[in-house]
Amino acid sequence: MERVGAIVTFPDFERLEGYFSSFKEDLVAVKTIDELNRIKGKYLGRNSLLGELLSKLRELPQEEKKKWGQKMNMLKTEMEDMLKEKYHVLHFEKEKRKPLDITLPGKKQWTGTFHPVLIVRDQILAIFRSFGFRVESGPEIESDFYNFEALNISSDHPARDDQDSFYLNEKWLLRTHTSPAQIRTMQKLTPPFKAVVPGRCYRRDAFDATHSPMFHQIEGLVVAPGISMGDLKGTIEAFVHRFFGKERRTRFRPSYFPFTEPSAEVDVSCGVCWGEGCRACGHTGWLEIMGAGLVHPQVFLNVGYDPEVVQGFAFGMGIERIAMLKFGVTDIRWFLENDVAFLEQFKTLR
Ligand code: PHE
Repeated sequence: MERVGAIVTFPDFERLEGYFSSFKEDLVAVKTIDELNRIKGKYLGRNSLLGELLSKLRELPQEEKKKWGQKMNMLKTEMEDMLKEKYHVLHFEKEKRKPLDITLPGKKQWTGTFHPVLIVRDQILAIFRSFGFRVESGPEIESDFYNFEALNISSDHPARDDQDSFYLNEKWLLRTHTSPAQIRTMQKLTPPFKAVVPGRCYRRDAFDATHSPMFHQIEGLVVAPGISMGDLKGTIEAFVHRFFGKERRTRFRPSYFPFTEPSAEVDVSCGVCWGEGCRACGHTGWLEIMGAGLVHPQVFLNVGYDPEVVQGFAFGMGIERIAMLKFGVTDIRWFLENDVAFLEQFKTLR
């Protein structure tokens, strides 16, 4: 062992001289995995010289201990690496020599599946595409302007609180909804247009059965002269019929969003009790599926549109929530568990 030999200072440890070169010689001669194991025991086992010296190490004075400890560990690691390499070579050669046994059962191939959230996202997008909507996208890191200001969300709105959003600094944050994509889409396109924008959103929510700090939404935006609440209701109802089934009813409840006026919360009739009231719908007969409304004139002004010339409607829905309602998933955390048994159930849907 050249490296060790050079700094021999302690009599016992001088015996390591030549250890590495005789190890290498032995290793070259090895032909089988059994032999390899024998060599391993001889040079690295508890009764090997190295093993013996390693256990004696603590008897050395501090300085010597450190020096020899390092040396011997380097030596050990190097020998282990060489043994491993040799093992792979021998193993490969052994496999190559094996005759092909065509009676063995085939190896099971495991194929992945699309994640249920993506499946539902694509189903929703496909429906809106068939209605003539284009699919747009927006960044997950948004500025205060796009996420709040341009959407008419005042500085004292709770969503702007540090408590509710992941701020990166004063100006940038992880978007709390896909609505900033409304602004970007209006800046990019010229009316009339219909667009949907899917994407991830982030909120500083507790991670419980119905909240997740990361979730997905789909935003919808239609801008054209003369758009009314009737267009919104008709579009959403058509969507509900396609996605949940013809027999499901929709209900619009008055609500408030700073960027729509009037605003509504949209419910779909419960598919378990058909409106009678049951546990699935909290005994109300209805399930909330999205927020929606007519685009607020101030939002149009913020992007340089004339609210006297164009009108529009917008909606935003949580994909996990829709997936939970559709498949009866009772805890949003399932979507992030990486549990194959759960995920595989959605395999046939795509
Ligand atoms: N952005 C709203 C939310 O996350 C939903 C919404 C979108 C409401 C578009 C109205 C219009 O709650």
